[in-house]
Amino acid sequence: MSRIVYVDGQYLPEEDAKVSVFDRSFLFADGVYEVTSVLDGRMIDNDAHLARLRRSLAELKLDFPMSDAEIAASQQEVIDRNELVEGALYLQVSRGAADRDFAFPNAPEPVLVMFTQARKLADNPAAARGISVITVPDIRWRRRDIKTVQLLYPSMAKQQALDEGADDAWLVEDGFVTEGTSNNAWIVKGGKLITRQLSNDILHGITRVAALRLANEDAVEIEERPFTVEEALAADEAFVTSATTFVMPVVRINGEPVGNGNPGSVTLRLRQLYIEMARQG
Ligand code: PDD
Repeated sequence: MSRIVYVDGQYLPEEDAKVSVFDRSFLFADGVYEVTSVLDGRMIDNDAHLARLRRSLAELKLDFPMSDAEIAASQQEVIDRNELVEGALYLQVSRGAADRDFAFPNAPEPVLVMFTQARKLADNPAAARGISVITVPDIRWRRRDIKTVQLLYPSMAKQQALDEGADDAWLVEDGFVTEGTSNNAWIVKGGKLITRQLSNDILHGITRVAALRLANEDAVEIEERPFTVEEALAADEAFVTSATTFVMPVVRINGEPVGNGNPGSVTLRLRQLYIEMARQG
């Protein structure tokens, strides 16, 4: 069965879901997106995703007329029409089609696109064995806090990781890990969680916020600060967080084991707490 895709107010079979070649997200990466995970047919933390979407839109001076309630209703409609039980709902707002010009159009007609991707999130087999990462320089632009569709470098870094037999890449700037290609990076040392503080250097992950809250409720100590690759290699555990991976153990960095090379207990407990929270809705 082909998916039903939402394009600009219409629910269409994916073969018929099309946008203009003049769409500015195609020509200039002039668009923002969100990925909300879906468990048991329900979205996780979607209010926070929509709040971040508003912030990204505002940073790009992109006016989008639908209300959060209207967007959320359309998101759920896409989930329901595709009978999605577990996976992701992808949402993108572009500045829409306009003749190619670096200047923004005077009367933009933004386009909302949404589709679903079915995948195992809670019983993801990667969580049991953990993933491996390589490190690469972070050469992205300086507004990584805006969730734009300008994802070429993270895509290249991910492909490099796969080509080198790893699963993903961590991006490094001035000797410190910023984040993963599409996730936030964490280490655990002496029972304490360490993850980079919020700034324009990283995306303000929604899963990161949830993990910080759950760790705090679980009386786990937290330090929000940058860490180096060397520190990560000397850590007891490492993991990443994102909507599509939840809390995912990292067991190797540049081929070297983290801790004993297996998913750590602090990481796995946080993953379990996250899944319980998500299932409770
Ligand atoms: N990526 N950092 C980057 C660069 C990301 O692209 C993402 C999410 C995150 C984690 O954010 P969140 O917890 O809100 O998912 C951090 C999504 C999943 C993606 O591009 O597919």
